Amino acid sequence: MTMEYKDLIESKNSVRDYKEKEVDAATVKKIRDFAQSCERLDDSIGIDIRFMDNDTVYRQLDGYAGYKGILINAPHYMIVLSEKKDHYIENGGYVGESISIKAHSLGVDSCWITFKDSRTVIEKLNIVTDKEVVAIMALGYGKKRFKKVTGNVSLGKGYANADFQVKDSVTSPRMPLEEIVYLDTWGNKASVDELVNRAVYEPLNYARMAPSTLNRQPWRFIIDGGLLILTVRDDEETNLYEEQIDAGIVMLYCKKVMRETLCEINWNLVPVENKYNIPDNYKIVASCNM
Ligand SMILES: Cc1cc2nc3c(=O)[nH]c(=O)nc-3n(C[C@H](O)[C@H](O)[C@H](O)COP(=O)(O)O)c2cc1C
Repeated sequence: MTMEYKDLIESKNSVRDYKEKEVDAATVKKIRDFAQSCERLDDSIGIDIRFMDNDTVYRQLDGYAGYKGILINAPHYMIVLSEKKDHYIENGGYVGESISIKAHSLGVDSCWITFKDSRTVIEKLNIVTDKEVVAIMALGYGKKRFKKVTGNVSLGKGYANADFQVKDSVTSPRMPLEEIVYLDTWGNKASVDELVNRAVYEPLNYARMAPSTLNRQPWRFIIDGGLLILTVRDDEETNLYEEQIDAGIVMLYCKKVMRETLCEINWNLVPVENKYNIPDNYKIVASCNM
């Protein structure tokens, strides 16, 4: 029985504590094969995926990649390399998370790993490529599984605390849906009833569960009739790369759950006109017709 995307999203968490046990070759092959053929945000962007083991990666990248340079110790790592083209980073977020969900469906846990620059990673890992690193992910079997906390927990302005929460808490709270979806104009919060009536409650509620850098949940949606607009916050703690990866991940969640619950959508990455009073620290990254 294949699980619905919704179930996979709901049951997935970032895993930071791994058993030493390696993932068997047949499962690794399934993940690799999926990576080669999976749906992209832009099909014209060439992608190359490398799976590497702990002994090749851990000593090389610890002190460099991961929050505060602390690398998650995992039996395997996946490096996603991409051709450099328009929107290649958003595409990297989309593809990287798609592979992570596939791994999860096969019982393999993962976690995104932040890094400073592609060139250093390529040099440290001795990778021969003409592409750029767009994602690093730890892979393996987690010691424990945690349930996602998606209740009415507001992080408010405290996303600077997200780092603290990530380290000291095993759960990963999310903001309530009403705080991230606006109707017609910025700040006009949508009620759950209105979202249900417009048949967008489910896709947006699952989009809210997307992983993001430091769990900062930077996405805000504006519904303008049949148009859905995605905006992403620009934070001091994060760089443009992280913003674009976070945007790519949430576009994947939206598209997959829209497909299961409403209709097929295609993200248009050409920004629409800002007639919604969007504040300066947010930018419009994409829109789609529902
Ligand atoms: C681009 C990106 C980079 C991340 N980098 C790290 C990292 O270096 N170390 C880490 O422990 N978690 C990292 N994470 C995981 C997030 O902290 C995590 O997704 C978020 O806290 C939400 O938790 P959840 O995925 O368990 O729902 C990263 C996530 C993303 C999307």
